[in-house]
Amino acid sequence: MTNNKKIFFGLVGCGRIAQRHAEHITNNGILKAVCDNDVKKADELAAKYNAKAYYSIEDFLNGEQEIQVLSICSPNGLHAQHTIQALKAKKHVVCEKPMAITVADCGRMINEAEKANRRLFIIKQNRFNPPVEALKKVIDDGRLGKILSVQLSCFWNRNFDYYKTSDWKGKKNMDGGTLYTQFSHFIDLLYWLIGDVKRATGFIGNFAHEGGIEFEDTGVVAMEFYNGAIGTLNYTVNSYGKTIREESKMRKRMRYTIRKILPNLTVGVVFESFLKYK
Ligand SMILES: NC(=O)c1ccc[n+]([C@@H]2O[C@H](COP(=O)([O-])OP(=O)(O)OC[C@H]3O[C@@H](n4cnc5c(N)ncnc54)[C@H](O)[C@@H]3O)[C@@H](O)[C@H]2O)c1
Repeated sequence: MTNNKKIFFGLVGCGRIAQRHAEHITNNGILKAVCDNDVKKADELAAKYNAKAYYSIEDFLNGEQEIQVLSICSPNGLHAQHTIQALKAKKHVVCEKPMAITVADCGRMINEAEKANRRLFIIKQNRFNPPVEALKKVIDDGRLGKILSVQLSCFWNRNFDYYKTSDWKGKKNMDGGTLYTQFSHFIDLLYWLIGDVKRATGFIGNFAHEGGIEFEDTGVVAMEFYNGAIGTLNYTVNSYGKTIREESKMRKRMRYTIRKILPNLTVGVVFESFLKYK
């Protein structure tokens, strides 16, 4: 099954994020085969890692019995289909975010993993960001007391050209929307840090991307959590000039906040150097 006890991986969807997956896979295991319906992309990634190229997931799964784990890096709207096919073929699955674009599809993916007795991991790397880990710890330790209200702001800049970088971006059925492709990490953090949302209501608008994307570019949401906390989410891809997380003022404010929350922990220092590398 394995070569020097290393795990055999496969990868579906050989675009941008697949490059990162391939790099990390080869640090920890062996990338045996890749698949993309774009022949050039599959061939290029395969050649780089000395892997075999396939051009359909069906041929890939039929041809690769030895692979134990499959990375799904295809467009959002294909995550459910590709994950379920992989689980049926008895592979463990690492699936990119967002998990899927409907709750029903997420349910089907979880059911299939249970039926196949295989692991299903969804990529949510922001949970491992030093400030997020630190915040999770202080909340879990009760050092912030009971959380009563939350405010989340996501101000990014995504112009028309960005949506032309992949044919699925901006399409309702393959992308899902701004809360899926851009901000699903932050929605995940709300659930992870605060808890499950009981009810939500909001407003959305497409102010600067009419004709370019099939959904909103801006939204506001008011939420009530099951634990009684209330909160707001304010998001846009129309942030002036650039994504606000790159603004130095914001960085300073975040550093200050972390230091205030964690006066005795070294994580503030880790966080600062982490930011420098971002
Ligand atoms: N975790 C993160 O922070 C992060 C960052 C970027 C992207 N992503 C996610 O990764 C996924 C891919 O994003 P990307 O930016 O690499 O997009 P991309 O367009 O660069 O790559 C997607 C690839 O999938 C291929 N593909 C399309 N249909 C296919 C099919 N039927 N079978 C096989 N391959 C198919 C395309 O040809 C393309 O090469 C998305 O779900 C995105 O949300 C996650």
